[in-house]
Amino acid sequence: MDRDEILKTNKTYWDSNADLWFGTTALPEYGVKFVTEDDLHLFGDVSGKKLLEICCGSGHSLKYHADKNASELWGIDISHKQIENADAYLKEHGYTAKFICSPMEADMDIPTNYFDFVYSIYGIGWTTNLQGIFNKIASYLKKDGIFIFSWHHTLNYCVAWSCNQRKDVIENDTLIFSKSYFDESYFTMPVDGSEIILCNRKISTYINALAKAGFVVEQMVEQSDNETMEAVRDVSDKTKKAKMLPISFCIKARKL
Ligand SMILES: C[S@@+](CC[C@H](N)C(=O)[O-])C[C@H]1O[C@@H](n2cnc3c(N)ncnc32)[C@H](O)[C@@H]1O
Repeated sequence: MDRDEILKTNKTYWDSNADLWFGTTALPEYGVKFVTEDDLHLFGDVSGKKLLEICCGSGHSLKYHADKNASELWGIDISHKQIENADAYLKEHGYTAKFICSPMEADMDIPTNYFDFVYSIYGIGWTTNLQGIFNKIASYLKKDGIFIFSWHHTLNYCVAWSCNQRKDVIENDTLIFSKSYFDESYFTMPVDGSEIILCNRKISTYINALAKAGFVVEQMVEQSDNETMEAVRDVSDKTKKAKMLPISFCIKARKL
């Protein structure tokens, strides 16, 4: 699939639907039914630190760090509507950040060897060039700077409930592989009356791209939260699935 076409489709989706996602997939949450930053403390103390968020969306994670006295905040996002929302949201709370509206894949006016943290909450997987963006992120970070990101776990897109002929009726509480774990090709998905284009990368693809970009992985988390793991009564299909396999994953890596 043509990369410019993918970026155009995804930008159109986010420009039209930004308000639907206002304040979702933002810190302290790394993902739905997933352990949070309050449990993990991957960032530690960010006071006085410079942070850059890739795919900053509505700016809620930037505010999370502003509340914790980060000294400088930058956000990039492909959607001008998301940037507009993020800028307004931060100003409303008395904060400012430097925003850049651009695909993460593009060359941007971002200083190199500058940031203490670069992070992305459910953003990185939108990229059409994983190695390219990891290389760029390594260049933005200082030596020993930290890169943290979360995304859909590869298994979540491969495993589905077994349904009967009616498709919506789940049979036997059985999860089946509905797609190959190894299939990294792009697919179009209808959402909210519009469509998005994504691909489902293997976990090894992320790890190897990080290594090639000069990172060492300090921690990888795949854990559903305690509430989900301990749920026994009135358990939704989503919760049942999250009790059996990781829905999201999160990686903390350090630039060597
Ligand atoms: C799930 S949202 C992330 C939400 C964000 N964590 C928040 O707190 O709002 C994904 C974001 O990625 C952005 N995005 C998608 N493709 C992108 C790309 N190629 N480059 C930069 N941003 C992109 C979208 O505009 C959207 O704001």
